[in-house]
Amino acid sequence: MNQEIERRRTFAIIAHPDAGKTSLTEKLLLFGGQIQVAGAVKSNKIKKTATSDWMDIEKQRGISVTTSVMEFDYNDYKVNILDTPGHQDFAEDTYRTLTAVDSVIIVVDGAKGVESQTRKLMEVCRMRNTPVIIFVNKMDREAKDPFDLLDELEEELVIQVRPLTWPIESGPRFRGVYNIYEQKLNLFQPSKQVVTEKVEVDINTEELDNHIGSDLADKLRGELELIDGVYPEFNVEEYLKGDVAPVFFGSALNNFGVQELLDCFVEIAPSPRPVTAVERTVNPDESKFTGFIFKITANIDPNHRSCVAFCKVCSGKFTRNIPYLHVRHNKTMRFSSPTQFMAQRKTTVDEAWAGDIIGLPDNGTFKIGDTLTEGENLHFKGLPSFSPEMFKYIENADPMKTKQLNKGIDQLMDEGVAQLFVNQFNGRKIIGTVGQLQFEVIQYRLENEYNAKCRWEPVSLYKACWIESDDPEELEAFKKRKYQYMAKDREGRDVFLADSGYVLQMAQMDFKHIKFHFTSEF
Ligand code: G4P
Repeated sequence: MNQEIERRRTFAIIAHPDAGKTSLTEKLLLFGGQIQVAGAVKSNKIKKTATSDWMDIEKQRGISVTTSVMEFDYNDYKVNILDTPGHQDFAEDTYRTLTAVDSVIIVVDGAKGVESQTRKLMEVCRMRNTPVIIFVNKMDREAKDPFDLLDELEEELVIQVRPLTWPIESGPRFRGVYNIYEQKLNLFQPSKQVVTEKVEVDINTEELDNHIGSDLADKLRGELELIDGVYPEFNVEEYLKGDVAPVFFGSALNNFGVQELLDCFVEIAPSPRPVTAVERTVNPDESKFTGFIFKITANIDPNHRSCVAFCKVCSGKFTRNIPYLHVRHNKTMRFSSPTQFMAQRKTTVDEAWAGDIIGLPDNGTFKIGDTLTEGENLHFKGLPSFSPEMFKYIENADPMKTKQLNKGIDQLMDEGVAQLFVNQFNGRKIIGTVGQLQFEVIQYRLENEYNAKCRWEPVSLYKACWIESDDPEELEAFKKRKYQYMAKDREGRDVFLADSGYVLQMAQMDFKHIKFHFTSEF
């Protein structure tokens, strides 16, 4: 069992839209033998059918906007990639996916540097001390100066960095990367068809000059010296603690620098890590199966209504057709057709190990955060809700369908499509999302799946803050003062809906013993 768990690498690739997440995923699948299109991205058409391009497969399969999983074997490793939706309106999905991974690869566009979405996702990684590897992509295009980029990464992502490869120029002058770790030169050939061969060179000999010319050779020597002087030696332990992020340079589109990344990744990235439950810490090598639901995807195809609940196996071995305890319902369930995902294919699995993700057919029995065990009463922590960015009142547009509407809202919230707050002053329901698209999805699905109609009404809010205090009197005084803005989330927790940044600031000043949190878990 230990061997099975040790060889698993479960991770997600995160990036700002367009940085190259799809291209990189595709190249990784290529190395893993999961797709055979040599050189993969040849044209738009192939790219659009690429397995990892989420929106498209989901559309083909008729499943709504969510996260999927891909897995493959590479050398002795079993790699599980959790895909995250490219559209930033579904960032909440990505946050949740990050709770199910053991490490993360961040893709950054070499010309654009760190962009907003990446910054936000990194915050989630930092909260959980998730080990991070950074891939600076599109070096075949004119990129920022690599030293400037490293400074920017450190500053914007608030993590120490350590380059493990180093680019030789960029754009039309891009000559390749020097692999600092292996001390090999990797010469760039602008081709999508082949993986470039590495040349072993002693950088202090003329051999380097022969390959890239004396000027660039001298420059590279100088830069490598500088790197050694500025950045401490790479330390795997620090990476595993989430303190330092190794950096690779390359071009996903040209399949360049990707193998270095993958080789290093499987070697240093963590195997499944212990998971914290309310009751205790669960170790992956425990003999008994435990797992939690981090994602539910709905099927918008009216002919195939059932959902898929994605379960991360936290410990032990999951076996098909064995009864497991659904802790929240205190009910035993048996799964006859759990699925695993191989690129385009979905196959029924007989067993899965800690680190794996399995898809369980679901018709409303699961809710995000649910725990499955062999009988133990266990509740996994670490599936926080984040303050939404946009808020709207949801109103019933068809009084004959109140029951349907409430059921629909309930189930969609169980799936984690958005967050619901009930204003304690006027009893009105407020839906919070990360983007406008989610409101559209909710409205569409309420109509199509629940035969209910909703109407949105504006409410101007800035943030939802989960509040706590050691001083119950102050907490009560606060709730009284802000009674118009107090709401409950679905778990019955007190939430203060601040209508502006200024109001929040004032509240923080007036009520010094109250902590205002932007996530539901603290
Ligand atoms: P995303 O999933 O992060 O949104 O990014 P995706 O891989 O779809 O890449 C976004 C665009 O950037 C694509 O171009 C892709 O071809 C291009 N790209 C990705 N990696 C590289 C690279 O290393 N070098 C260069 N020059 N471009 C890269 P597109 O115009 O949107 O699509 P397409 O017409 O190229 O298919």
